[in-house]
Amino acid sequence: MATERILESALEEVRGAADRCAAEIGKAFIGARETVDVLLTALLARGHVLLEGVPGVAKTTLCKAFSRTLGCRFRRIQFTPDLLPSDITGTYIFDLREQSFVLREGPVFAHVILGDEINRAPAKTQSALLEAMQEGQVTIEGTTRPLPRPFMVLATQNPIEHEGTYPLPEAQVDRFLVKLPIRYPSPEDEKRMLATYNGPLAEPREVLSPEGVLRLQELSAAVHVDDELLDYVLQLVHFTRRHRRVYLGASPRAALALVHAAKGRALLAGRDYVLPDDAKHLAPYVLAHRVLLTPEAELEGVLPPTIVAEALDKVAYRRR
Ligand SMILES: Nc1ncnc2c1ncn2[C@@H]1O[C@H](COP(=O)(O)OP(=O)(O)O)[C@@H](O)[C@H]1O
Ligand SMILES: [Mg+2]
Repeated sequence: MATERILESALEEVRGAADRCAAEIGKAFIGARETVDVLLTALLARGHVLLEGVPGVAKTTLCKAFSRTLGCRFRRIQFTPDLLPSDITGTYIFDLREQSFVLREGPVFAHVILGDEINRAPAKTQSALLEAMQEGQVTIEGTTRPLPRPFMVLATQNPIEHEGTYPLPEAQVDRFLVKLPIRYPSPEDEKRMLATYNGPLAEPREVLSPEGVLRLQELSAAVHVDDELLDYVLQLVHFTRRHRRVYLGASPRAALALVHAAKGRALLAGRDYVLPDDAKHLAPYVLAHRVLLTPEAELEGVLPPTIVAEALDKVAYRRR
């Protein structure tokens, strides 16, 4: 694969933008840089992110701060049991002055969407958002409208299932490029958070713009991937499919997702070529939520990340 090299100045520009985003997000969200880097990686790879964590770990705070730095049109949709698909996509209303029906666009017509607490709405409403993610367009009463570009969905969910929640169907979880666990902060970070929150917080500033994001995404697409790396990704994915505790392994879409994400990570690191470590580092984020275990394995308490860890351990990267 002969690809054009990306200019050194462009690589530096990406690193600069990533550092500024992280610094701005840090004004509102106190946590590991890794968390911000995974969000940025998904952005560069044109992917969507599912953030999972218990209440009160700043999932909503993080998503709002991240979106703000992107300088893009942002809408938050709070999912509730009575939310309807048309509350997301929009609906036709009768305009008395015009004497005709006009489309009132729903909140999905923005660049960055926060689908907050997505498992609190029933499947039909979740589907309205998930279809938009898949297709980049929305059909409202028979008319199809394209969504703006860039288009990124951040969805949050609580891993503890309780009454009145609707777990995302397996086929739809696959539409998220990465699943990002948001855990409790380290003791130092939690203390810093307590100290910081004595006074009013500074608002994160805008670092990028819609055009800026599109440019970063084009650069990411131009990152070079070796044939050996493609083989490595395939080996990882095949390992999950053959595993005796796995009911459904990672799909070809998952393999593609890992390659795209690895390219995004390479670019963020200021490289125009992917290293095996990019794929290794991202495999847990990209693959774990796409692996379905057998009922026996579930009963034994095996978790999908264990299977991905085993794949990383057993599959060797082969140079030619
Ligand atoms: N790591 C953190 N950094 C900054 N603020 C935090 C952090 N953890 C919790 N908070 C604060 O706790 C509150 C809960 O955050 P929120 O974003 O609503 O959490 P979640 O959406 O995960 O339930 C917010 O006021 C937030 O400022
Ligand atoms: Mg929240």
